[in-house]
Amino acid sequence: MAIKYIPYFPNTLEGQAVLDNFVRTKRVLRYNGNDAVTEHIRRGMPLYETELQERVGKNENGNLVLRGECLSACAYLKDKGITVDLVYIDPPFASGADYAKKVYLRRNPKVAEAIRQAESELDIEELRSFEEKMYGDIWNKESYLNWMYENLMAIKSVMSDTASIYVHLDWHIGHYVKILMDEVFGEDNFRNEIVWHYTNKMSGSTKPHDFVCEHDTIFRYSKSENYLYYTISEERDEPVMQSKRVKIDGKNMRARDEDGNIIYELSTEKKIKDVWTIPYIASTDSQRVDYATQKPEALLERIIKASSDKGMIVADFFGGSGVTATVANKLGRKFIHTDININSIQTTRDRLLAAKAEFDMLEIKDGVSLYRNPVQTMERLKSLIIGLRNEDALDEFWEGSIIDSKYGMTPVYLPNLMDSTTRMLDKPLMNEIIHKAIPDLPDETKRVIIYYIDIDDPEEIQRFIKEHGNPLIEIELRDLKQVLDNVVAEDYAEWNIQEARDGLFNAWKVEIIQFQSDRVRRKIEEINQKNQLQVLQQKAKGKEKTFSPIIISDEGLETIEWISLDCTSAEKDAPWQSDSEIKIDKSGYVIKNGVKTTEYWDACIISEHKPLRMKIRNICGDETVFVI
Ligand SMILES: C[S@@+](CC[C@H](N)C(=O)[O-])C[C@H]1O[C@@H](n2cnc3c(N)ncnc32)[C@H](O)[C@@H]1O
Repeated sequence: MAIKYIPYFPNTLEGQAVLDNFVRTKRVLRYNGNDAVTEHIRRGMPLYETELQERVGKNENGNLVLRGECLSACAYLKDKGITVDLVYIDPPFASGADYAKKVYLRRNPKVAEAIRQAESELDIEELRSFEEKMYGDIWNKESYLNWMYENLMAIKSVMSDTASIYVHLDWHIGHYVKILMDEVFGEDNFRNEIVWHYTNKMSGSTKPHDFVCEHDTIFRYSKSENYLYYTISEERDEPVMQSKRVKIDGKNMRARDEDGNIIYELSTEKKIKDVWTIPYIASTDSQRVDYATQKPEALLERIIKASSDKGMIVADFFGGSGVTATVANKLGRKFIHTDININSIQTTRDRLLAAKAEFDMLEIKDGVSLYRNPVQTMERLKSLIIGLRNEDALDEFWEGSIIDSKYGMTPVYLPNLMDSTTRMLDKPLMNEIIHKAIPDLPDETKRVIIYYIDIDDPEEIQRFIKEHGNPLIEIELRDLKQVLDNVVAEDYAEWNIQEARDGLFNAWKVEIIQFQSDRVRRKIEEINQKNQLQVLQQKAKGKEKTFSPIIISDEGLETIEWISLDCTSAEKDAPWQSDSEIKIDKSGYVIKNGVKTTEYWDACIISEHKPLRMKIRNICGDETVFVI
């Protein structure tokens, strides 16, 4: 439950398509068939508790990596009185795609010998990798725009007066968001529409008779008239002769010699205008971190140099691979990175650590212990609610139904974790349930189950149900968090620890003997079952196909991605202090404390001092802490 709601300035919204230019001052509750406004509900940014997970370095600059939604991150900043000087966001584009991460089994050092013989087999990508969904980008336009409106309002409320915002989109939804931004920031504060022109990206599904798309759009707005802007230049392909410019009486004029002739000089640089030609990151580029929607550092370099000074705070509330934070840090700015996806947080952490950045990692306790990310949590949820099944007789408002011996078919409503506006069970939602969803149910319905994450005021909601509900249909409210709390089964590890010498120094060596992750095994079982089914279907069509399952060894060491030792605190829930860490890349090479090596992992990790706790991240991104 949110501690409080911090209202936006002015207030907020619901409902209307943006192009109506509706004044969204309040969320309005209307009764079905009756236009009279009977209730106003003030909405804002939900402020949740936060937990410090890890401090990397001393972090005197207050850099932040926040796991949580954009809205709750803004509430946190507002509550702490932190304002930001530059915002870049590259939110989901409403592209209609599901973004996935490729997960690779690592090389198991314990069975390296046996594997060597079968090495050629191991190189077959399908036998050692699978995909996991990270986030869905499938929206209807209106809910996307309402969601975006809330986010933009929240972001604006934490921007300093001289701050600028860059919003990166493309043809899917960009034009609508431009209008929305005019509304939120004011048309007068529109500064540029930047075209990011890339030439080396595989074109999507362009039809043969359409032009191929080769650009994204970045809208630049300022919070006020008084904003920072620095001209930035790039090198010309070929130097050109240009007339020399001088300032005379404050005016920019051509320079002339004593005889009045224009003076020319060789120009090697040119001002950057609003079309930016920057290539996509090549697959071999060292900045690649395997994040599906990763943007090039060069893009962020321009933005940060043009609109901020050293020491200023640069924020990205949809931070993904951490490109904004990384470049901001490199250019001497402070950074705030937010994302809901655990994979983004881990990728960014590791990327920043390798760049020797200092920062705090915070988790926003938004009431839902999200299972890696909202898409996967939604998928898990459906399997966790006992008896929940698809029900053809119900419309899409309902997730499915449970068959109950007393009540018969019981429709079940689940909030959509990908859409923060459905997280709160408030009167408008209850009104929709009572007046729109329930009347459409089959006549024999006697009970419905409504799951919620956050509830506005439980007693008031119950009163509302009593007053307006159908007395013949029971409405049962259930807390979704209790279902989610049962989700997390921690991973299991066995290890040996011994004092050893590391060159000239004394050291502690931890050797991992066994690592078992139910979560990874279950995922692989699911993938194997799916693949087997596909092969059977292909065979049924007469196609030659064989099924080769992904196999994990008994030791399970190939399911480890990262290990860290904390030699400072033995308390299980204390913030993490990584005194030594290794990451195993997808080819099996070790990255030690952020530095790449050409060594294969030998199942060990070494620290200078006695380790008190060990954290292991599995290849899907779940982390478990073991007290040593
Ligand atoms: C297009 S990607 C950003 C890519 C990033 N610019 C980069 O270069 O790596 C969008 C990101 O938004 C995150 N996201 C989606 N909804 C969010 C929300 N409500 N709050 C915070 N992050 C969100 C996704 O997890 C994803 O990482």
